[in-house]
Amino acid sequence: MVKDFIPLKIAGVGYSVPETVITNEDLKKLYETSDEWIYTRTGIKERRVVSGNETAIDLGLDAAKKAIDKSKIDVNDIDCIISAASAPPQLYPTLSCTLQDKLGIKSKIPAFDLTAACTGLIYALQVARGFIGTGIYKNILIVAADNNSKITDWTDRGTSILFGDGAGAMVVTASDDGVDDVLSLNISADGSIGQMIQTNMPSQCCPLVKQADEVGTGKIIMDGKEVYKFAVTTVPKYVAECISKSGLTAEEIDYLIPHQANQRIIESIQNRLKYTDDKVISNIKYYGNTSAASIPIALVEGVEQGKIKLPSTAVLCGFGAGMTWGAAVLRLREGIC
Ligand code: COA
Repeated sequence: MVKDFIPLKIAGVGYSVPETVITNEDLKKLYETSDEWIYTRTGIKERRVVSGNETAIDLGLDAAKKAIDKSKIDVNDIDCIISAASAPPQLYPTLSCTLQDKLGIKSKIPAFDLTAACTGLIYALQVARGFIGTGIYKNILIVAADNNSKITDWTDRGTSILFGDGAGAMVVTASDDGVDDVLSLNISADGSIGQMIQTNMPSQCCPLVKQADEVGTGKIIMDGKEVYKFAVTTVPKYVAECISKSGLTAEEIDYLIPHQANQRIIESIQNRLKYTDDKVISNIKYYGNTSAASIPIALVEGVEQGKIKLPSTAVLCGFGAGMTWGAAVLRLREGIC
């Protein structure tokens, strides 16, 4: 750790999901499947999707407003915005620049997107930690927002059962009491196995040259079995290592708030930590996989439903396309959501 590293405070967290619910029964209108097949393999019963003109921008804006409100920080005191989306509705202007405008922030603060798929929130937190720790920025808004339903191949029953839309936001600031809310945080990637989850954008070459043999579809293509194997072999061990660097034991940490990709993957992490069900926050049943938004949605909803008591500590973990993965042990203060 750098000398005089400024500690980080998590000041506010918010989330937003679209109203429209698509159940497993609904999916039977698209292809041959059953609620039983989907639920037993994934733990998912339903997911939320945007409709009409609604996009991840609307969800991100709503989540950001809620997080800012909870943080008690004036929106004009935010000095950096980092957005993490797997596939934002538009490449540019970026989600973060669009949100800067929609939040009415007039000062010319930096706003940029970071792509680490479902690990985006933890990656963004690490970047924010570097900025805050070294005194470059003081109040950072992180927004994880995705409209996966727009890039899902709705004819592929192996992937379209999994994903849902949603957004989560976090305001992190320089700690005013010297207490660091990040007890440990690690992020990793392995591009050599990146083909496990791909979204290749539709593209073209200059009409004056030879065209590429294949053009992307813009849809998610996934080797579900390989992703599953990767997740259950890599993530539980990684989470345990992150905990060992935090100075706490797994037993001393109050909650596990994992990325919501598959209930069986969540259980593999739970088993590794020997946690009872009440310590594990899972809402995949109602939202499916909302990419980087899944952790803040689970956190805030967990508090709203009384499953998470504040103040407390939690271990978070994410993994996704790239392949990327990350984990963090955090202090969760009273009033953050
Ligand atoms: N309904 C009914 N049958 C289905 C189906 C569906 N929705 N999807 C696939 N099947 C069928 C397949 O066609 C296959 O049939 P076959 O044996 O006749 O060819 C059979 O079920 C098994 O398919 P398979 O893809 O091998 O299933 P699986 O046991 O690997 O489960 C996933 C598929 C997607 C549920 C599972 O691999 C998974 O959850 N992986 C992790 C994905 C993930 O988390 N990704 C995001 C990471 S951020």
